[in-house]
Amino acid sequence: MRIEVYDTPEDLAAAAAARLAGLLAETPVTFGLAGGSTPAATYRMLRDELLQWEHVTCWLPDERWVPPEDPLSNALMARRQFTDHVPAQLIAPDTTLPDPGEAAAAYERLLAAEFDNGPDVVLLGIGSDGHTASLFPGTEALSVDQPAYVANWVDRLGTWRLTASAPLLHQSSQIVYLVSGQGKAEAVRRILVDEEPLPARVVAEGAADVTWLLDAEAAAQLS
Ligand code: 6PG
Repeated sequence: MRIEVYDTPEDLAAAAAARLAGLLAETPVTFGLAGGSTPAATYRMLRDELLQWEHVTCWLPDERWVPPEDPLSNALMARRQFTDHVPAQLIAPDTTLPDPGEAAAAYERLLAAEFDNGPDVVLLGIGSDGHTASLFPGTEALSVDQPAYVANWVDRLGTWRLTASAPLLHQSSQIVYLVSGQGKAEAVRRILVDEEPLPARVVAEGAADVTWLLDAEAAAQLS
C-alpha cells in the first residue's frame, strides 16, 4: 500500500485528479466512483482532463437507497460533478425498484457484463468509523464471501444501502483511497498504523494495488 500526503484538500484533489487521469488513460476502462462529499472537488478537476472518456464506463461501488433525484444520491452527485460534463457512461443502480435486494441483484448483473476479470480503477473513501463503500462495521454485507453487489441494512443510519462486497472490490486492478479532514484522522491511524480489521482495511488488504491519498489533517495521527 502506497501512502501519499498532501498539504491541503485542494492539493489532494489536484493530485487525485492527475493520478486518476493517468490510471484511466488506457481504455476501455471501468471506473468506480466513490460517493459522499470528499470526491466532488476531484471530479470537477478530473472532468477537465483530455481523455478518451467515451471509452470509460463509470459505476458506483455503493449507493444510498434514495430516489435518483434525492440530494443524498451518489449517482446524482457523480452526474452533477462529473459524468454530465464528459462523454463517459455512468451505470447506476436503479433505486426506483421496489426492493433494495432486487435493485442490487439487477445491478450486479449489469456490472458482470462490464467487468472482464473484475473492476479496473476504483476510487473509495472512508468514514470516521472505518467503513468504505457501504461496508459498515458490524453489518451483514461484510460477511459476503463472494464477489457480489448487495443490499445492506445499516442500523446506525436506519437505512438500506447498496454496496459492492469486499471480494468484488478485491478483484480491482487499482484501488485509490481518497481521504480528507481531521474527522478521518483517527480512522486512518486505526487502519494504517493499528492495522485494525475495519472494513476499509479488509478491502485494502485483499486488493492487488492500493494507494492512499490523504491530506495533512487526515494523516495527522500517522507519524
Ligand atoms: C457513501 C460513500 C462512503 C463515503 C464515506 C466518506 O455513499 O457515503 O460511498 O463510503 O466514501 O462515507 O464520505 P464523505 O466523503 O462524505 O466523508
